[in-house]
Amino acid sequence: MNSDITAYELGDATMLPAIGFGTYPLRGESGIVAMVGALETGYRLVDSAVNYGNETEVGEALRRSGLPRDQVRLTTKIAGRHHEHDLALTSLRDSAKRLGVERIDLALIHWPNPSRDLYLEAWQALLDAQRDALVVSVGVSNFTETHLRRIIDATGVTPVVNQIELHPYFPQERMRAVHAELGIRTEAWSPLGKGNAPYAETPVSGAARAHDVTPAQVILRWHVQLGSVPLPKSATPQRQRENLDVFGFALTEEEMAAITALGRPDGRLFGGDPDVHEEM
Ligand SMILES: NC(=O)c1ccc[n+]([C@@H]2O[C@H](COP(=O)([O-])OP(=O)(O)OC[C@H]3O[C@@H](n4cnc5c(N)ncnc54)[C@H](OP(=O)(O)O)[C@@H]3O)[C@@H](O)[C@H]2O)c1
Repeated sequence: MNSDITAYELGDATMLPAIGFGTYPLRGESGIVAMVGALETGYRLVDSAVNYGNETEVGEALRRSGLPRDQVRLTTKIAGRHHEHDLALTSLRDSAKRLGVERIDLALIHWPNPSRDLYLEAWQALLDAQRDALVVSVGVSNFTETHLRRIIDATGVTPVVNQIELHPYFPQERMRAVHAELGIRTEAWSPLGKGNAPYAETPVSGAARAHDVTPAQVILRWHVQLGSVPLPKSATPQRQRENLDVFGFALTEEEMAAITALGRPDGRLFGGDPDVHEEM
């Protein structure tokens, strides 16, 4: 069990905080306020994307927080409509401008969009951007095993992370095993299950009572013990604190297994199948 891990070393030897802050759909002044609150609370990994339309707000929050640049890892993602090599490079330069940074700490391909079959071009653009020091770490999101193996075989470079939907109703055992085999760190989107959180399920509510924590803390602790990096979003200061405060207790093996067993065939959130769903 890895109860004391608060950061992971990635395949490229950079460090990734064990919990990050999700920023969708935070925008505008209220979004900036929420993000500054998260940074002041202690989040050091911030998840954004071109398609969230909030990179400017993320950059502004970083500056308002007063934190040294090198203490926060900013993530953004290339949109599906920008997979062509040159469009992807332009997208990364524009993202850096909007974020107001010289280098993007972690840049991902948002969705593979296999029907367009251009994700390998986007991956090559990410590697070029990394070579030119526009991007520090390169990864992907919503990639299946087939997509992962293809870009690795073609370029010899393994993404440091694959950000996938992961929560107790959709525990992604197969993809987590693939990531372990390939040396990829799993990041978890909708880590709480978004609007469909399993707070009332007995394995979650029972563990919450047993450890005197909230159901959300149980779920985030489950992620930490799986070794995945959850990216909970909250605009609420109390919840932001709560979601980061999961290192003072540990779930038993039985509790872990019972939560994972909540997984069900229809557990995926709407639109989440990367072989079917396309995001432009
Ligand atoms: N790569 C992708 O394709 C992809 C797809 C979806 C999401 N993402 C990323 O993943 C992040 C998180 O996903 P998400 O926002 O869909 O889902 P989530 O983090 O699982 O859930 C967010 C919801 O849970 C509520 N919440 C947060 N903490 C809580 C707590 N302690 N107790 C009760 N409710 C709580 C929030 O409400 P309040 O804000 O009101 O507290 C919000 O309504 C996104 O922000 C985004 O960065 C990536």
